[in-house]
Amino acid sequence: MGKIKVSNVHKSFGSVHVIKGVDFEISEGEFVVFVGPSGCGKSTMLRLIAGLEPISSGTIEIDGEDVTHLEAADRDLAMVFQSYALYPHLSVRDNMSFGLKIAGKSKKQRYAIVDDVAEVLQLQPLLDRKPAELSGGQRQRVAIGRAIAREPSAFLFDEPLSNLDAALRVSMRAEISQLQRRLQKTMIYVTHDQVEAMTLADRIMVFSDGIIQQQGAPLELYDRPQNLFVATFIGSPNMNILPCISSKKGVELKNGTPITDKNIAGDPAHFGIRPEHIKLCAKKDANISGKVTLAEHLGVDSFLLVDVPEIGAVNVRVSGGAQLGEGEIAHLKFDQKRMHFFDKKENRLEQ
Ligand SMILES: Nc1ncnc2c1ncn2[C@@H]1O[C@H](COP(=O)(O)OP(=O)(O)OP(=O)(O)O)[C@@H](O)[C@H]1O
Ligand SMILES: [Mg+2]
Repeated sequence: MGKIKVSNVHKSFGSVHVIKGVDFEISEGEFVVFVGPSGCGKSTMLRLIAGLEPISSGTIEIDGEDVTHLEAADRDLAMVFQSYALYPHLSVRDNMSFGLKIAGKSKKQRYAIVDDVAEVLQLQPLLDRKPAELSGGQRQRVAIGRAIAREPSAFLFDEPLSNLDAALRVSMRAEISQLQRRLQKTMIYVTHDQVEAMTLADRIMVFSDGIIQQQGAPLELYDRPQNLFVATFIGSPNMNILPCISSKKGVELKNGTPITDKNIAGDPAHFGIRPEHIKLCAKKDANISGKVTLAEHLGVDSFLLVDVPEIGAVNVRVSGGAQLGEGEIAHLKFDQKRMHFFDKKENRLEQ
């Protein structure tokens, strides 16, 4: 249960083409995360799957059945939104059992199911309270509990944690992860949060402008981004991208600085290196050097912004912290095993 197949789906709102041909298959029990810039169509894609919005063309199948023209209520999916609309006049227990009442379950059956779900989400002490008497995190848990109580074949989450403070997000993230492992249900989860995407997903789908740019396991996207968009979207701080050209012997930056003596087939035009893959080093070992224009010391890490003559600003992440301050010279060395190259069309070049 919970297999979802999306084939060549398009969606336009009037003359605005929002989803431009999306295909994917999600297997039973898989945790898929949608990421992408604001307005790229993540929520729209989720709403199309849920049946809250008619699609313009293409098909959607759930467990082998074509549900393209089925009503949302008949798709056996549960959606949890960022703004979790709970009924303010109902208790937590009645909020959670509302969908079951509509499904025709008796009061006894409903309360038995809700008790089970409340135990999983540690909501038992709160069952008789009204939503106004709960914290934001507790309310969000009730909204998730309401979705679980319906026992859908798959869950669709649209940025469910974005209203919560940082500490609560971390604990709710862990709860959702454990929950998914326990329920073994298919989940599609939209988020802006890199850490949520990397830690929760079996597979991340990176959207931009209505298409999927790349999909894969989190570390696959981190290690082998297929194009410049994915390279700079996944990872925080962003990957540094510096113009480069092939030289007689390998590849060099545009100012002639050699970066590798490997020949990269396919005419490299952009060199990518993540901030965490640049090391501080002695002058004689450096690939590039420049003045530190910004130094942020976070304790466990330091972030340095280094202005390299003829090259520009380079972000460096020094784990364990750096002794360097603003105005000092940083000598930098690129990790040879962690280099990325892209051609003029911004596609990845294999090494
Ligand atoms: N009902 C609608 N009518 C017209 N345009 C819409 C409608 N819903 C969404 N859009 C447009 O479709 C595009 C995609 O919107 P969508 O909400 O899917 O983006 P998103 O990726 O979820 O963004 P965000 O990260 O900001 O939530 C946007 O340009 C939006 O303005
Ligand atoms: Mg959205």
